[in-house]
Amino acid sequence: MVSPLFELRHVSLAFGGLKAVDRVDLALPAGGLHGLIGPNGAGKTTVFNLITGIYRPDEGDLRLAGRRLNGLSPHRIAHAGIARTFQNIRIFAQLTVLDNVRVGCHVRARHTMAQAILRTAGHIAGERLIQADARALLDTFGLADHAQELAGSLPHGQQRRLEIARALATHPTLLLLDEPAAGMNPTEKAALKALIRRIRDHYQLAILLIEHDMSLVMDLCEQITVLDYGQVIARGTPPEVQNNPKVIEAYLGEPIPGASANPRAEGATRGNTKNAGTAGTAETRPEDHPGPEGGQG
Ligand SMILES: Nc1ncnc2c1ncn2[C@@H]1O[C@H](COP(=O)(O)OP(=O)(O)OP(=O)(O)O)[C@@H](O)[C@H]1O
Ligand SMILES: [Mg+2]
Repeated sequence: MVSPLFELRHVSLAFGGLKAVDRVDLALPAGGLHGLIGPNGAGKTTVFNLITGIYRPDEGDLRLAGRRLNGLSPHRIAHAGIARTFQNIRIFAQLTVLDNVRVGCHVRARHTMAQAILRTAGHIAGERLIQADARALLDTFGLADHAQELAGSLPHGQQRRLEIARALATHPTLLLLDEPAAGMNPTEKAALKALIRRIRDHYQLAILLIEHDMSLVMDLCEQITVLDYGQVIARGTPPEVQNNPKVIEAYLGEPIPGASANPRAEGATRGNTKNAGTAGTAETRPEDHPGPEGGQG
């Protein structure tokens, strides 16, 4: 069997008495598009925080292309090829759209501080490459016309796209997207779906997608892992997951698109505030690491 690009093996993390992530296994092939779903508080964002080095696992292994990532700083993990976006958008609101992407490009920059101060030929050439790379990304993301605008002045949907562009500027082999469709209207979601597909195909990277919009997940992902109370309760293709009784149970009352009858469809939900197919509400949690660059560099 071909070994996976990325793997979580038996990874756990507790906050005090709460097992937020409980012996989670997950494997992604290079170029794979994998969904990570589950009700609110299931542990999805905590998995991203573990992968990006914001938290260290209590047990288990994280591996990228066979290399063990445990204990590496977020900066080193970004260098190793993992980039992310955040559940609550993190952009540099006071920088221009172009500069936001250039910040991402700098994760890969090779020149030193001394070269920058002395403005050596190597530094100038490096900056030109970064500029060209950043502009190409803005083109891909339909943001080229906004390059000189302040990022904070963009509408919500474009800010989310900008955050993905900045993550891609690090040239990751694995991209983690935490609820990229949250707060988007149906037109923006349709565009986002096409964009995620295009990114995967064009940049040939693997994508791990957390999303409450089930139709988006089911349409995009080849494989899905379902978490509930920190544990993997199901994994498989979209149809397998949609028809899994444990998944239906976890989503109490949430119709899973394409699933046969949901026996508890009329029951109360277990506090899942983000219904399938609707925009999510932004939340603030200690999950989030301070600073817009957290986890990326
Ligand atoms: N830093 C923290 N300290 C204490 N508890 C935390 C911390 N971060 C997360 N938790 C708790 O861990 C559990 C998993 O949280 P997490 O944010 O990973 O859920 P999630 O699946 O991303 O949920 P949502 O869909 O609402 O974003 C929750 O019970 C949450 O309250
Ligand atoms: Mg979350």
